[in-house]
Amino acid sequence: MRIVLVGPPGAGKGTQAAYLAKNLVIPHISTGDLFRANISQGTDLGKQAKAFMDAGELVPDEVTIGMARDRMNQPDAAGGFLLDGFPRNVSQAEALDEALKEDGVTLDAVLDLEVPEEEVVKRIAGRRICRNDSSHVFHVTYSAPKQEGVCDVCGGELYQRDDDSEETVRKRLEVYHTQTEPIIDYYKAQDLVVTIPALGKVEEVTERAMAALQGGK
Ligand code: AP5
Ligand code: ZN
Repeated sequence: MRIVLVGPPGAGKGTQAAYLAKNLVIPHISTGDLFRANISQGTDLGKQAKAFMDAGELVPDEVTIGMARDRMNQPDAAGGFLLDGFPRNVSQAEALDEALKEDGVTLDAVLDLEVPEEEVVKRIAGRRICRNDSSHVFHVTYSAPKQEGVCDVCGGELYQRDDDSEETVRKRLEVYHTQTEPIIDYYKAQDLVVTIPALGKVEEVTERAMAALQGGK
């Protein structure tokens, strides 16, 4: 399956993607994670992306589209993938359509995670991520690790993302409304959008998403 996950910052895209990708046996491709890996490895791409991310702005399309395409062209993504955080504006959505057309494939669904703004702010404020593996995501109250600051899965150190400060989160939400939300209409025109209420327990949201995907979308 080829799936796009959309939703505001903190909606739970990364959290859901980890479970959905496992259930569907497809790779989870997160452009945010790819940028963060490049930053921690000190690559040129990471250097180009960092200032935009720290400001809560989108990284320019010239950098982002090439990186996403390279990842989608890797062998493990030949049979399908779950895109998290890409596309993030209409020109990225058009570039993705173009790439899929070249490969002779289509998207199966666009899952839109719907969460009220007060909730995403709470989710982001309490988020802690493992330094060893960005798919190990915790929350200080909603899914607290057994030992404060330590990853339950691998024992790695938990940290708070640089762009999770209150000011940057506000900017990221504004960017989401102005630049990313228009892709929902873009995909509605292709009859691909499935809206998933994303309040409630993590596993309940996963069940809703799996039911919607199995419902034929
Ligand atoms: P990115 O890394 O994609 O961040 P984002 O979209 O802002 O989303 P988040 O990672 O903040 O949230 P999420 O929805 O994954 O939530 P999570 O599962 O962690 O992008 C970062 C930056 O990179 C961008 O600002 C931009 O600069 C750049 N970038 C990336 N892609 C780009 C692109 N295509 N073009 C240009 N620039 C790009 O959950 C949040 C918290 O809530 C966690 O603590 C979790 O434990 C908790 N939680 C999750 N689900 C639940 C639940 N059901 N109940 C209670 N708590 C929950
Ligand atoms: Zn870990």
